Amino acid sequence: MTVETQNRVIKQHLIDPEICIRCNTCEETCPIDAITHDSNNYVVDVDICNSCMACVPPCPTGAIDNWLRVVATEAYSLEDQFSWSELPAEQELPADTVEAPANANGAAAGAEAATEAVEDVTSELEGVPSTGSGASIPPWSAAHPYVNLYTHKNVATATVAGNYRLTDAETDNAIHHIVLDFGELPFPVLEGQSIAVFPPGTDENGRPYHARQYSIASPRDGERPGYNNLSLTVKRVTSDYDGNPVRGVASNYLCDLQKGDKVRVIGPFGNTFLMPNLPHSNLIMICTGTGSAPMRAMTERCRRLTKDRAFNGKLMLFFGARTERELPYFGPLMNLPKDFIDINLALSRAADKPKKYVQDLIRERGADVLELIDDTNTCIFVCGLKGMETGVLEALKDVVEGAGRNWSEVHAQLKSQGRLHFETY
Ligand code: A2P
Repeated sequence: MTVETQNRVIKQHLIDPEICIRCNTCEETCPIDAITHDSNNYVVDVDICNSCMACVPPCPTGAIDNWLRVVATEAYSLEDQFSWSELPAEQELPADTVEAPANANGAAAGAEAATEAVEDVTSELEGVPSTGSGASIPPWSAAHPYVNLYTHKNVATATVAGNYRLTDAETDNAIHHIVLDFGELPFPVLEGQSIAVFPPGTDENGRPYHARQYSIASPRDGERPGYNNLSLTVKRVTSDYDGNPVRGVASNYLCDLQKGDKVRVIGPFGNTFLMPNLPHSNLIMICTGTGSAPMRAMTERCRRLTKDRAFNGKLMLFFGARTERELPYFGPLMNLPKDFIDINLALSRAADKPKKYVQDLIRERGADVLELIDDTNTCIFVCGLKGMETGVLEALKDVVEGAGRNWSEVHAQLKSQGRLHFETY
């Protein structure tokens, strides 16, 4: 190995563990699987990352946008990154280092690209790459969101104004509606945005718990108009994906909150999953369980506007739950006028009824869904279980192709126009 290759300097792409809210967006977005995670941190594999920047714009916090100059042979390994609770400081580099050449392959080439990218992030943002199933840009008429007003270095405190169980007490599925009040503290949000909450206490390694992200369930003007508050829809986690018992740290903390308790919050986050802002916009909302939070926010926004004759678009909702008793906001939803919102409930475990998923109902209502898709004033929002993403895409594809049309073209158009948005977990 020559001195030159030994001391080649790269810009290593790293994720700041102090700011990251572990939302998985970067891992989902990375087109070459360079990002992975363990129970502690999200990390970037220096041997795979080519600094394509696809992950940077979608990151809600900016934690992804860190580039440290290191000697290539001393780049931080995955194990190093998994163990961090903060980013290391940039080391002083040996005097005989050489910058990676612009035409080098792999990580070195990526590092070059990264240097440019770091210097000119705005130009990257202008040509936002459209990766993944959904759009990486908001609808053109969306109101402009505030993001990252409160960060790890400037945490907001909210007061619990209410905590109500939404699902039937007889069921195992405990979903809560939690109202957080910010008092005099400015905390402007839009429907579709999220916040992150710090559970108090430390993990098994004695480190403070990471902030956990939750979608906001109330519209921009508050749970009640004129109040500086917002609500969350939180499911008490008592088992993991395989059904093994676990105690979800943040969800149990939130579901146990009492009125008057103080909660540490950062955010708001999210600049793409935003509703269009026109009186004649149409929304197709597709959700399961707590994925109903942003749909409640958007529906309530439209309901208030309708009262003021400021909204006359169409709302079509596909909502999946096990039973009616486990469907959050079932009562208020059913009270909404039929000519205001077209509600389609997909119940998977209702007695004496065939099992239905949201994608089944999308197919059943295919003609109406297609009519809305063909209207450029329509935006589609999907929120809920990760597994539904593929199912919903396949259902939309069937609807479009069933009419003899080309799904790839329609899908690409929905993405490039900021009209198809996913938030799954
Ligand atoms: P299932 O009865 O098969 O679990 P949860 O109550 O766990 O939050 O789930 C909300 C709803 O989403 C349930 O009706 C659940 O059905 C359904 N669901 C589970 N997997 C999928 C999937 N891949 N696509 C659509 N819906 C799903």
